[in-house]
Amino acid sequence: MFSLPVQDNALLRPLEVWHAEEFAAHMDRAREHIRPWVGAGFISQDVEGARGTLRRYAERQAADGARLYGIWLEGTLVGGVMFTDFNAALGSCEVGCWLEPAAEGHGVVTRACHTLLDWAFTTRGLHRAEWHCRADNARSAAVAKRLGMTLEGVSRESWSYGGTRHDTQIWAVLADEWRAHTG
Ligand SMILES: CC(C)(COP(=O)(O)OP(=O)(O)OC[C@H]1O[C@@H](n2cnc3c(N)ncnc32)[C@H](O)[C@@H]1OP(=O)(O)O)[C@@H](O)C(=O)NCCC(=O)NCCS
Repeated sequence: MFSLPVQDNALLRPLEVWHAEEFAAHMDRAREHIRPWVGAGFISQDVEGARGTLRRYAERQAADGARLYGIWLEGTLVGGVMFTDFNAALGSCEVGCWLEPAAEGHGVVTRACHTLLDWAFTTRGLHRAEWHCRADNARSAAVAKRLGMTLEGVSRESWSYGGTRHDTQIWAVLADEWRAHTG
């Protein structure tokens, strides 16, 4: 099974069904921190729920769709990055991410997303990658900006959480912009 170095002490690997127990333990550390900012379906409560999330991603990956990757910092699963959507026929994808609190502030998510975007644009020849976040999610927007994405617009009151409807920011980077950003 492959693993890519994200930085000296951090590895990026596919996050798969056999990680269910490790993913559930990580979710116990991450759940309340990420709950306001990610899709409700991503928040699992126990090992069976965690296995269900991993299985859904595995099934979508088998159809060349969404994909999920974990980040291990000092040997502990601390978060990850994903293609929440991947459509080779349309030439577009959407990237997402999450971390447990102790892993924030090291740059691991920006670097891991860089790896996903390189693969999408270079290996797979996609044309466009999007990033969706709640408009008040400053840390998430900062990652999109660091990746060279442009804020294209706001989908108004499209994100329901805790009885309130929030705006969603849509960020994106195009293939030639990615080459300029990384070149
Ligand atoms: C969004 C989220 C993953 C961002 O985490 P993060 O730690 O800020 O992002 P990174 O891993 O890229 O790290 C960036 C931080 O590391 C610092 N850093 C250190 N070395 C760095 C490097 N080489 N490259 C980039 N940043 C680096 C940056 O300065 C930044 O810290 P700062 O915000 O204090 O300035 C995290 O806040 C989170 O999980 N939030 C809850 C879930 C969520 O919002 N998910 C996204 C849904 S759209």
